[in-house]
Amino acid sequence: MKLIVTKDYEALSTRAAGLVIEHIQQYPSSVLVLATGNTPLGMFARLVNAYRRGEVSFHNCSLVELDDYFNISLDDRRSLYKWLAAEFINQVDIPAENIVRFNTASTDAKEECARVEQAIANLGGIDLLVLGLGPNGHLGFNEPGSDFESATRVITLSAASIKSSAQYWGKEEDVPRQGITLGLKILSAARHTLLLVGGKQKTQIFNSTFQGPVTNSIPATILQQQQNLTVIVDKAAAGNISTRSA
Ligand code: PGA
Repeated sequence: MKLIVTKDYEALSTRAAGLVIEHIQQYPSSVLVLATGNTPLGMFARLVNAYRRGEVSFHNCSLVELDDYFNISLDDRRSLYKWLAAEFINQVDIPAENIVRFNTASTDAKEECARVEQAIANLGGIDLLVLGLGPNGHLGFNEPGSDFESATRVITLSAASIKSSAQYWGKEEDVPRQGITLGLKILSAARHTLLLVGGKQKTQIFNSTFQGPVTNSIPATILQQQQNLTVIVDKAAAGNISTRSA
């Protein structure tokens, strides 16, 4: 694992965008999985700017959704796909046919999950996975207790995730109760992974993720075993780790 501690969130975002761009320059046909949430927003803004300046093209990339709410219509205001589309997809040149989106309105969850896993297999697996860190240690919607071998599936959101997601949609009652997520098994096979952690509210979970035992009560601890993992953390989130690695 490579740990990069940045002075603040802006520097974290610049570093993250730089690494994504370098990756795509090296592997132009990358299969990307990019988290939503607040943490990657600065990175997306920088990627869009770099694309506009002609410094990077996503034309040969594919993109697979990491997670979304389930049992909501495709145009629901809380669609995580719509969030990703507004911040990134619609502003760059990824061809629509290269995008694998969850059908959040599917009436057959099992079949929908199998379809997405098959699509990833057909693409040859995930090349670059960019993750945020849930305050409860979730990765995507792999909530505490998720098996490390878990497949892509529909889950019931934990109380902690409902609470932390309320900031996106208004209040807790506005947060959908179900999610659909790539499973830990397929995420752990990603060839390159970038984890972004920012803000002092993440210090405790960041410490538990990398300094505690590997346990599925904190799904993110699976990253201790991840191949080619780069962690970018700002000083506020790094806590005592930042002084040790500075
Ligand atoms: P955040 O969300 O980036 O908004 O903190 C991270 C997550 O819950 O996975």
